[in-house]
Amino acid sequence: MQSVEARTSPFESRLVPASAARPGDDPIFALNAQAQGRAASGESILNSTLGALMTDEGRLAILPTVFEAFRRVPAERAAAYAPISGDREFLDAVIGDLFGDSRLSAMAVAAATPGGTGACHHAIVNFLEPGQKLLTSSYYWGPYAILADHTRRGLETFSMFAQDGSFDVDAMETAIDRLIDEQGRVLLFLNTPCHNPTGFSLDDGDWERIVAVLERAGQRAPVTLLLDLAYAKFARPDSIRWPRYVERLAGKVGLLFAWTASKGFAQYGSRVGALIAIESDPVERDRIRNAIGYSCRGTWSNCNHLGMLAITEVLTDPELRSRCDAERDELRRLLDERVDVFQDLAKKAGLRYPRYEGGFFVAVFTPDAEATCTHMRERGVYVVPLDGAVRIALCCTRVADLPRLVDALVAGIPPA
Ligand SMILES: Cc1ncc(COP(=O)(O)O)c(C=O)c1O
Repeated sequence: MQSVEARTSPFESRLVPASAARPGDDPIFALNAQAQGRAASGESILNSTLGALMTDEGRLAILPTVFEAFRRVPAERAAAYAPISGDREFLDAVIGDLFGDSRLSAMAVAAATPGGTGACHHAIVNFLEPGQKLLTSSYYWGPYAILADHTRRGLETFSMFAQDGSFDVDAMETAIDRLIDEQGRVLLFLNTPCHNPTGFSLDDGDWERIVAVLERAGQRAPVTLLLDLAYAKFARPDSIRWPRYVERLAGKVGLLFAWTASKGFAQYGSRVGALIAIESDPVERDRIRNAIGYSCRGTWSNCNHLGMLAITEVLTDPELRSRCDAERDELRRLLDERVDVFQDLAKKAGLRYPRYEGGFFVAVFTPDAEATCTHMRERGVYVVPLDGAVRIALCCTRVADLPRLVDALVAGIPPA
């Protein structure tokens, strides 16, 4: 048998330097593992870290109809490779899910991606040059930075909230102008409704101002907006405001949409998603279709066919679809109850948090997030530290646990 003992190499590492310095674990998964370890050893732990919707019994919430759709997929279709950019029926179904019968559907092209993550990846590599920076708000989903770094791009942020708590459109405009001057193009990621990690959803006033800024910027340089709709299907219906503003922006700036079945169909593990682009010029539309298809071939080749076919079935069979919607409504009610009880308790306790209309997460402001998290962990309560806030995953927190959560927040937030 050959020895597996460490051998001294004449080289520091065979990895390229950038890869040799990668962090080993996702910080949220690491916190979750710690919480689970303590719970397994018998401690009473309240784990409010993970971004998956859990039932009050602590089980992953699923949509049974989606599994019915999986069972309907013929084995030989599921086992076959999917087309590189995804099945035509799947792409049409996703485009229909986003835009229905509106004129936008006729201007849409798409490619299947492994979840919204894959859609963000393809946007970055096709709408930014290496070395250029993606723009997003100061609170953002961490993997945006990893995707940008990993693809040799960077990430720049603008302050998300103005003094009055509204979305800081002025800061966004300043950053867009600066990036146009510096790199001659802009790719802006906005995650709404139900932003991760703050819970914030853009309202009509925010959107009006964003549209005006983007229209102006789109005259100066190639500007592309990606709407990350990861949590959209769990928004309260009156929080879904983007369609009419996107309609106004069509033809003036590039429009991309990151669509995913992870949350909306409770299929986190199936890796079903798509990048959709709206483009009024047919020549440019073909270029985008080719570019994103090429990126599929150059990364994961093609996506999970079984998942894609099952989600197509749910989206296109009216009976299945309405049952699935009804099941999701049930889950949304579960989440909305947590949101309402949290808001009630948080307001009474004087906690400060962004405008919140629902969704998997909410952030609570604190002058020292690390200190707050450490204090809360001592009480067995796990939340995620951000810059100036902590993220609470109401998606995995039972109503019965909310008083304990809010008490721990109150005790853990030092005076400003
Ligand atoms: C803001 C945001 N965007 C995109 C995603 C992508 O998830 P997936 O790749 O599972 O669709 C997530 C998942 O947590 C998210 O929080």
